[in-house]
Amino acid sequence: TDAYDLVIVSNRLPVDRVVDESGEASWRPSPGGLVAALEPMMRSQDGIWIGWAGVADEEIEPFEAGDINIRPVMLTEQDLQEYYEGFSNDTLWPLYHDVIAQPSYHREWWETYVKVNRRFADAAAEVAAQGAVVWVHDYQLQLVPAMLREVRPDLVIGFFNHIPFPPYGIYSQLPWRRQIIDGLLGADVIGFQRVADAGNFSRAVRRLKGYETRGPIIEVPIDTDDPASGSHRHVTTDRRGGLVRTVLARAFPISIDADQYQDLARRPEIQARAREIRQELGNPQTVMLGVDRLDYTKGIGHRLKAFGELLAEGRLNAEEVTLVQVASPSRERVETYRQLRDEIELTVGRINGDYGSLGHTAVAYLHHGYPREEMVALYLAADVMLVTALRDGMNLVAKEYVATRIDEDGVLVLSEFTGASDELRQALLINPHDIEGLKETILQAVAMPKRDRTRRMRALRRKVLTNDVARWSASFLDALTRSAHGDHPLQ
Ligand code: G6P
Repeated sequence: TDAYDLVIVSNRLPVDRVVDESGEASWRPSPGGLVAALEPMMRSQDGIWIGWAGVADEEIEPFEAGDINIRPVMLTEQDLQEYYEGFSNDTLWPLYHDVIAQPSYHREWWETYVKVNRRFADAAAEVAAQGAVVWVHDYQLQLVPAMLREVRPDLVIGFFNHIPFPPYGIYSQLPWRRQIIDGLLGADVIGFQRVADAGNFSRAVRRLKGYETRGPIIEVPIDTDDPASGSHRHVTTDRRGGLVRTVLARAFPISIDADQYQDLARRPEIQARAREIRQELGNPQTVMLGVDRLDYTKGIGHRLKAFGELLAEGRLNAEEVTLVQVASPSRERVETYRQLRDEIELTVGRINGDYGSLGHTAVAYLHHGYPREEMVALYLAADVMLVTALRDGMNLVAKEYVATRIDEDGVLVLSEFTGASDELRQALLINPHDIEGLKETILQAVAMPKRDRTRRMRALRRKVLTNDVARWSASFLDALTRSAHGDHPLQ
C-alpha cells in the first residue's frame, strides 16, 4: 500500500456520498468550514485525507476526488447514533459551547467514541509514511493523537480544535475529562482558535493532571517503562529533573480562502445575481442578512427577537427593511436541533404574520444550503450582515462577508462571543444576550454614513486578506515541522 507524508484526519471528508433516487451514487463537496479551510492545502501537496463519507454502514474503497486522495472510514448506524449524534453532538458540542444546551452524558456513547477514535487512529497509522506529519481535526477525534502516538511514535502529530475549549468550571463536568486531556496531549502541537481557548486548555491540564506549563508549553512526564518513551521527540527535563516531553498549545485563528471570495465577487454574473436578489426582495432600502448552520449556538432566535421588536416599536419599517435568514440544515436527527428548528420557524412565521403583506415578507427564511456563488451574491446584496452567535469557535461567515465586499461597503454586526471578534475589531461588536444593545446596534448599522462604512470595511478587509487560510495552515504546519526538529517556538 502507498504511504503518505501528510495525513489529514477529520470526522467528515471534504466530499459527501449522495445516492439519488435511481440508486446512482456521486460525490459532492460537504458542508462545514473545515473543508473550505483545508482544501487549498491538500491540492498543493501529495497527501491523503481520512474521514467519514457521510453515509452509514457502507464500506468504501479509497479513491481520488479532484486531486485529493481519500480514504473513507466506515461508521455503522450505531456509531452514527452514539459517536457522532450522541457523544460528539449531544455531549461535547453543547459542553464546549458554554452549555447553551444541556449536554447528555451516556457511558455507552463514550465507549463508542473511544472505539471509533481507535478506528480513525488505526487508519492513519496504516497510511502514514515513516516520520510523516499527521494533522487531526476537531472535537470528534480528541483521542486520536494519543492512540496514534502509542502505535506510531515516529509520527509528527498535530491537533486543531475548531470549536471553543470551555472554561474549567464547565469542562470539569465531563465524566471523561482526564481521558480527553490525555488523548489530546498525544499531539506535538495543539492548536486553538483563540488565546482564551488555549488558556482554558492549559488550566484544565494543570488542574486535572498537575503538569507544569511554561507559557504555551506543556510538560508531559514520560513514563520511562514505556517501550516507546525513547523515541519521543523534544524530550527535556523539568524543574525537578524528571524527564518530560513538551507539547505546544497555542492559538492559530483559522481563516478562509479570501482571494477565492474576492474573485467570485468580481464576476459580472454574480454581481448581476446580487442585483436580482434585491429586486426579488422588492428593492427594499436595506437588506440585512444572517447565514448560519441551523444551530442553537448561532443566536438566530436572539437576532429575530431584536428584529421583531424593532418592527413592533416602529423603529424599523417592514416596507423598507428585509431580513434574509439562510439557515442550512444540520444534525437533523438530534432532538435539540429539531426543537430549535421548530422554535425558529414559529418565530419567523409570527414576524411575517404580524408585519408582512401579500407582496412582501419581513423575514425571507431559507432552510437550504447554497453553492458558494449564490452565497457571494447574497453577501454582495446585503447592506448589513448579522452574526449574533452565543458562542462560536471562529465564525467564517463573518470573514466571508468581509472578503466579498470588494466595494468596501456593507456593515458587519459581530458577536463578541466569536473567535472572529478577536481580529475583526472594526466590526460593530455586540453582546447578543443584550437585546436592547443589539437593537441599538442594528439601527446604527442601518443608518451608518457611507464614509464610516468604508473606513471600517477597509480596515476589516486588510485583516482578512492578510490572514487568509493559506497563512493559517502554513503557520500551523510550520509549528509542527519545527517541533519535529525538537524546536518549540516559545511565543
Ligand atoms: C463545525 C465543526 C465541524 C463540522 C461542521 C459541520 O464547523 O467544527 O467539525 O464538520 O460544524 O457539522 P457536521 O456535524 O455536519 O459535520
